[in-house]
Amino acid sequence: MPDFSYLAAVRESYDTVASDYFEQVKSPAELDPLSRGMLNVFAEVVRTAGLGPVADLGCGPGKVTAYLAERQVPVFGMDLSPAMIELARSAHPNLRFSVGSMTSLPIENDSLGGILAYYSTHHTPPTLLPVVFGEFHRTLAPGGCLMLAGHVGAGQHLRPTQAYGGHPVSYESYLLPPDRIAELLKQAGLVLTARLVEEPGGEAERTFATFLAHKPERS
Ligand SMILES: C[S@@+](CC[C@H](N)C(=O)[O-])C[C@H]1O[C@@H](n2cnc3c(N)ncnc32)[C@H](O)[C@@H]1O
Repeated sequence: MPDFSYLAAVRESYDTVASDYFEQVKSPAELDPLSRGMLNVFAEVVRTAGLGPVADLGCGPGKVTAYLAERQVPVFGMDLSPAMIELARSAHPNLRFSVGSMTSLPIENDSLGGILAYYSTHHTPPTLLPVVFGEFHRTLAPGGCLMLAGHVGAGQHLRPTQAYGGHPVSYESYLLPPDRIAELLKQAGLVLTARLVEEPGGEAERTFATFLAHKPERS
C-alpha cells in the first residue's frame, strides 16, 4: 500500500508560505523567454487539438493557469494547498480552482485535453511518481498532451527548513535525472515528444527541464 503521508507536510508547508509565494514568484509574463516559450508551445498544442479541458495540477496561486486562460486554453487549476487555492480564486475569480491531489485525481478517465504540471511534481517521493504519472495517463484523453516542468538533478534529496521569506517548511524535494523522469513517463504509457534541459544557472545553480508527452491514441 503506497504511503501518502508526505502530502500532509507539502500541504501544510504551502499553506504557510502561500502569501509570500504569491508576492515573490513571477507570473509567466515576467519569466525568461525560454520558459514562457515552452508554455506558449503547450498552449498552442492543447488549444488547437481541442480535446477537452486542461488541468493545471499543483497550480499554486494560479498565475500560470491565468496565463493559459488568457491564451484561450480552457483551463482549470487544482492544488493540494487550500491557502493557495484561496489566493488563486481571489486573484482570478473567473477561473475554476479546486483543492485536490495529483496522486488521486477526482477526474474521469480519458477526459482531459491536456495536463500542466509546473514545478509541482518534485515533492513527490520517486517511488510514488508512477502513481502520479499513472493518474496523468488515466485522465488524459487519447492524444492529450502533458507538459511537465521542474527542477532536475542527480538524484539529490533536499530537506529545506525555510522557504519564501523564512517561513518554516517541512516538505522534501527530489531532483531526479531527466532520463529517469523520461523513463517513468514512458513506463506510465505516455509518449515523450520533446524535452528541454536547461544549463544550470542562477545563484542556486539549479537545472530546469521541461518535458512534453502525449497519451497515444490506443494504449
Ligand atoms: C513550487 S509550487 C508551484 C505552483 C505553480 N505551479 C507555479 O508555478 O507557481 C508547487 C505546488 O505544487 C503543489 N503540489 C505539490 N504536490 C501536490 C499534489 N500531490 N497534488 C496537488 N498539488 C501539489 C503545492 O501545494 C504547491 O502549490
